[in-house]
Parts: sequence; structure tokens; C-alpha cells
Amino acid sequence: MNHPVDLGKDDVPPGAGAEPGAAAPSAGAPGADRMPEEVRRQAEIARAALTALRREVAKTVVGQDSVVTGLVIALLCRGHVLLEGVPGTAKTLLIKTLSHALELDFKRVQFTPDLMPGDVTGSLVYDNRTSEFEFREGPVFTNLLLADEINRTPPKTQASLLEAMEERQVSVEGAARPLPDPFMVCATQNPIEYEGTYPLPEAQLDRFLVKLTVPVPTRDEEITMLQRHAAGFDPRDLSEVRPVAGAAELAAGRAAVRAVHLDPKVAAYVVDLCRATRQSPSLQLGVSPRGATALLATARAWAWLSGRDYVTPDDVKALARPTLRHRVQLRPEAELEGATADGVLEGILAHVPAPR
Ligand SMILES: Nc1ncnc2c1ncn2[C@@H]1O[C@H](COP(=O)(O)OP(=O)(O)OP(=O)(O)O)[C@@H](O)[C@H]1O
Ligand SMILES: [Mg+2]
Repeated sequence: MNHPVDLGKDDVPPGAGAEPGAAAPSAGAPGADRMPEEVRRQAEIARAALTALRREVAKTVVGQDSVVTGLVIALLCRGHVLLEGVPGTAKTLLIKTLSHALELDFKRVQFTPDLMPGDVTGSLVYDNRTSEFEFREGPVFTNLLLADEINRTPPKTQASLLEAMEERQVSVEGAARPLPDPFMVCATQNPIEYEGTYPLPEAQLDRFLVKLTVPVPTRDEEITMLQRHAAGFDPRDLSEVRPVAGAAELAAGRAAVRAVHLDPKVAAYVVDLCRATRQSPSLQLGVSPRGATALLATARAWAWLSGRDYVTPDDVKALARPTLRHRVQLRPEAELEGATADGVLEGILAHVPAPR
């Protein structure tokens, strides 16, 4: 299946905003005249800045364009991201570079079996000098939190993070402390190791906007990577990465995404796709209505990043796998026969008629 903005076999489109203006709305495009001039200008600046972001990330990370696009879409939708990939595929480097290029605060937590909820959210600490308890903020008080190997920590600690993700605040002793904005969690999971892990419950998975798979680089990409290393590239030194966008551009982008026009036929298409997952004989759990809203949100963000102010069925198709793959559950029989969530979704995309 290949349509213009198909996200490829694995993931989100590599080319988000790569060719600014390539798909700029024509004068007669639906919704072309809805936005006030000044708002539109700011949105254009934001789109250019977010496009430049990909160039900055490429200074350290070779390839992985789809993952970068997926992360930008999640930031635009104020969502959180599950990153799945084998060790050593630059997940950490990618998130670190992204935070640098966006001038956002970054923290990383390694989730281990003995990590306590307070190690993530923060805790009350007794201050000897004042004889009072003081709240010491945990690493969750940041803009971009890399939650490494989230499935290695027991449910109690997972739950404390997921609660913070959902509510964007931490409650300690009855006092709610708001988290910074933007706030995005990128949680990594290793797809091959299951021993000693605590898989996230389905209800928790639904809280992640997208699940991005981080592939092993292609042969050429890997060769380029080695050449850079041979030439002295140091992944700990991000001084070459310039801040090209920030919270303001993200806010302008979000406002523009909210103004992306939705044809009722496209809304119906999103619903039909989600309903088809609920009826699929290969799935024991289909996409929830929350999942349907998530698909609409990511498709609109992608539409805007691609230079349009209306969302098309192709935008929906492009984002269907990353947005829905973690929200469906295979039947054990189907799994034994080798079915995958992506495969089932692909079949549904091929069968559910898209509006013209
Ligand atoms: N696509 C890539 N581009 C550039 N460097 C890469 C790429 N993939 C891997 N590397 C190199 O591999 C190193 C390891 O990457 P990193 O620590 O970010 O991986 P990771 O996916 O976070 O691994 P882990 O799952 O073990 O935490 C990087 O510092 C970089 O030198
Ligand atoms: Mg890492």
C-alpha cells in the first residue's frame, strides 16, 4: 500500500514538512480563508521552524525521519509517545537532540524494578534548618521526559507516571503541583526482552498518543554513522545543534492544527476504521473512542505539517498505524498464526472504503 503520504511499512511519514509549500493550499482549498492574516503568518513561521527542526536533529542522528515526524506530531497534539526499538538505535540521542533543538528541558529516568513512585514525581523531604517538610521535585518536572524501559518497573511506579501524564500535575499531600508546559513523556520499551518486565496494561497504553517503532538504520545510514564517528563525532557533544524552534512555535502550531478543517466524511472515515478494528476476527480488543479522537488529532497535525489546512483520508491512513497499533490487542490464536497489529491494521485500511 503506497499513497502519497503513507508512513511506510514501519512508521510515520519521513517527509513531514520536508518540502514546505509543496502541498500549500490552493486559493480554492476548503478553509483557505478561515484564519486571520496574523495568525496565519505566525503559523507559517512555526511550520518553517518545525521543518528546520528535522535538519537540526539530522546533525546527530542519521535517518529516523519518521520517528522525528512522529515526535513533532505528538508535541503538536500534546500527546505522549511510546518508543519501541532494540538497544543502540539512538532513541536517547534523538530525544536529547530534539530537546536541544527546541530549547526544552530534558530529563531521563531509567525505570528499574526498585524505582519508587516518589523517585519519578518527587517527594516531601524534611529540612533540618526550617524543621519543615519541603517538596523536592522529581524528574517528571521537565518538558521532555525520557522514561527508559518503562516496563521494567512495577505497576505502582508506572501508574504514578501515567497519572502525571494524564493530569499534567503531581499531587502530594493534597497539594497539586502543575507540570511545565510543554510536557511530553517518551517511554521506551524493548521489543525483544520480556523476562522480568511488567507490561503496561491496555488501559495505560491507550494514554499514549502514538507508538513509534525505531528501526535499525539501513546499510547506507549505518555507514554514514560510522563515517561521522570516524571523523570525530561525539554523541555527548550537542553544541552543533542550534535551537530553531521552541514553546512559542509549538503553541502557534497547535493553534493552527486546531483550525484544520474537518470534512464530516473524513470524521466518518476515522470512525469506520475504528469500528472495523472492533469487529476484526483477529482482534480481541479494538480501538476505543479515545483512540478515534487520537487518530483524528494526529491526522490533522500531519495535514498541517504537510502544508494544508484541511485533513484528507490519506492523512488518516498515514497516521493510522502509529496511532492505533498499541490500542488493539490480537487474539492469542491470531498471534500464534503470526498476525501483527500492523498487519491487521493494514488489512483494515485496505478494506474500509475511504471517502473521495
Ligand atoms: N541513526 C543513528 N544515527 C547516529 N548515531 C547512531 C544512530 N543509531 C545509533 N547511533 C549511535 O549509537 C549510540 C547509541 O545510541 P543511544 O544510546 O541513543 O541508543 P538507545 O536506542 O537509546 O539505546 P538503549 O536502548 O540501549 O538506551 C549513539 O550515541 C550513536 O553514536
Ligand atoms: Mg537509551
